[in-house]
Amino acid sequence: MSYLIIKYVHVIAAVATISGFLLRGYWMLTDSQQLQSRIAKVAPHVVDTVFLAAGVLMVWQLHLKPLQEPWLLAKFSGLAAYILLGTIAIKRGPTKKARTIAFVAAIAVFAYIVGVALARSPLSWLSI
Ligand code: HEM
Repeated sequence: MSYLIIKYVHVIAAVATISGFLLRGYWMLTDSQQLQSRIAKVAPHVVDTVFLAAGVLMVWQLHLKPLQEPWLLAKFSGLAAYILLGTIAIKRGPTKKARTIAFVAAIAVFAYIVGVALARSPLSWLSI
C-alpha cells in the first residue's frame, strides 16, 4: 500500500481517536449514560488498532529502527502515557477530580505527541 495513503490513515485515525476521547471525556464530566453504550466501549479499540497499525506499517516501510530514533521512542512512551491516563480519566479514576485531572493530562500528552510527530523530535513543539 502506498506510504502516503497509510500516512493519511494514521493522521485521520489520530483525529478520530482524540475526537472520540474528548467526547467520552465530556460524557464522563456530565455523568452521561452514553459512556456505557456499546459503541463508546468498542469504537476506541477499533480506531486505536488502525491508528497503531498504520504507525507500525510506516516505521516498517521507512526501515526505521525505533531504538535509534528518539522521536519514535518519545511517541511510544507518549502513546503509553496517553492510553494509561485515558483509562484513568474514563474508567479507573476513583473520584471525579482524579478523572478530570487525568483527562486534562491525557490531552496535554496527546498535544505533545502531535508536536513530536510534526517536528520528528522529542522536543516536540519547542523545536518547530
Ligand atoms: C497519540 C499518538 C500519535 C499521534 C498523535 C501521532 C500523530 C502523527 C501525525 C500528525 C503524523 C504526521 C506528521 C507529518 O505531517 O509529517 C504522524 C506521522 C507518523 N507517525 Fe504518528 N502519531 C502517534 C503515534 C505513533 C506511533 C505509536 C507510531 C509508531 C508505531 C507512529 C509512527 C509515525 C510515523 C512513522 C510517521 C511518519 C513520519 C513522516 O513521514 O515524516 N505514530 N503521526
